[in-house]
This record gives sequence, C-alpha cells and structure tokens, in this order.
Amino acid sequence: MELQLIKGDITKLYVDVIVNAANSGLMGGGGVDEAIHRAGGPEIMDECRSIRERQGGCPAGEAVITTSGSLPAKKLIHTVGPVWKGGNNDEKAKLHACYINSLKLAESNGLQSIAFPNISTGVYGYPKAEAAEVAINAVKSFKSNVIVKVVFVCFDDENHQLYSQSLSK
Ligand code: APR
Repeated sequence: MELQLIKGDITKLYVDVIVNAANSGLMGGGGVDEAIHRAGGPEIMDECRSIRERQGGCPAGEAVITTSGSLPAKKLIHTVGPVWKGGNNDEKAKLHACYINSLKLAESNGLQSIAFPNISTGVYGYPKAEAAEVAINAVKSFKSNVIVKVVFVCFDDENHQLYSQSLSK
C-alpha cells in the first residue's frame, strides 16, 4: 500500500474515495465537512439524512459511505472523530477506529485509493502531533489486497510538517 502526503484541498482529489471528518448527526458543519458538502452538492446531504433516519447517525469512531455527488472522487466516506477532552476519554482508540473503519469500508466497496483529512485536529481539538501518529500508525497497520494507495491530505502547514517528519522516519 503506497502512502502519499499532500498539502491542499481534499475536495479536489481524483481518488476512489475521500473521507469526511463529520459529526455524529451527519448534519454537515464547518471545516472539511463544509468544504465537502459545498463542493459535492445537496445529494450528499440527502443520503446523510437517509442514514440518520435509518440508523440515527454515526457514532464516534465509526464510518458510513455515501455518494460523492459532484466531487471528483467516486465515493465519499463520513467518519466521526473523537472530541478531544484531555486524552482520558478513549480519544486515541476512537481516532484509530476512524481510520480502520474507513479503510474497511473502502475495501468492502472495492475502492483502491483513499484520501484522509487530519481527522479531529480542527474543531474537535485533538492535538495535531498525537493525531498524526495515530493516523499513520493505523494506516500502516492495515493490510489490504484491495487498497493500493492512501493519501494524507493536510490543509495547514503544521499538520503537513508533522506528517512529513513522521512519514520520513
Ligand atoms: N481539505 C482538507 N482538509 C481540510 C479542508 C479541506 N478542504 N478544510 C479543512 N481541513 C482540515 C482542517 O484544517 C483540519 O486539519 O481538516 C482537519 C479537520 O478539521 P475539521 O474539519 O474541523 O474536523 P474535526 O476537527 O474532525 O471536527 C469535526 O467539525 O466541521 C465540523 O461538522 C464537523 O462537527 C464536525 C467537526
């Protein structure tokens, strides 16, 4: 599995699937969630609403898949990161699960390339250095015969620097 690091806007990527850092209500919001819904269009929210009505949303650490609407990616996975509350509320395990469950969902849908934002490091306040380690370790631990490329998409310089250092170890 090839790991790639880029700095930029995840909504522009031509990969099989991009991952959204959503909230448990799948209601849309700010940050990358807002960017994805804005770029992808209303059919994404329509499917999120159906999922909410069917299963009540998406708990932290879990992932759901929807249409990507008018995004260049073929599909869209929504995962819900943990809100940082100091580190003693299972945050690390939940963040790890976000990456693993998103990879499992991509694999079961036959999607070969997947791009992740830096989940939980914005509104949810997860410390960036720790989050980068969790993300990279989770992806490196995932063995797949389907997924051939994982792209880490950083939007800010700090995350890009952290991922760049960690991936070059
Ligand atoms: N492309 C890639 N990354 C982006 C983009 C973009 N277009 N826009 C923002 N980001 C980055 C942020 O800089 C941050 O590093 O995504 C990372 C995750 O930050 P948030 O989007 O704030 O997500 P998170 O911290 O997981 O909080 C989720 O915020 O937007 C709401 O509805 C969302 O309630 C949920 C919460």
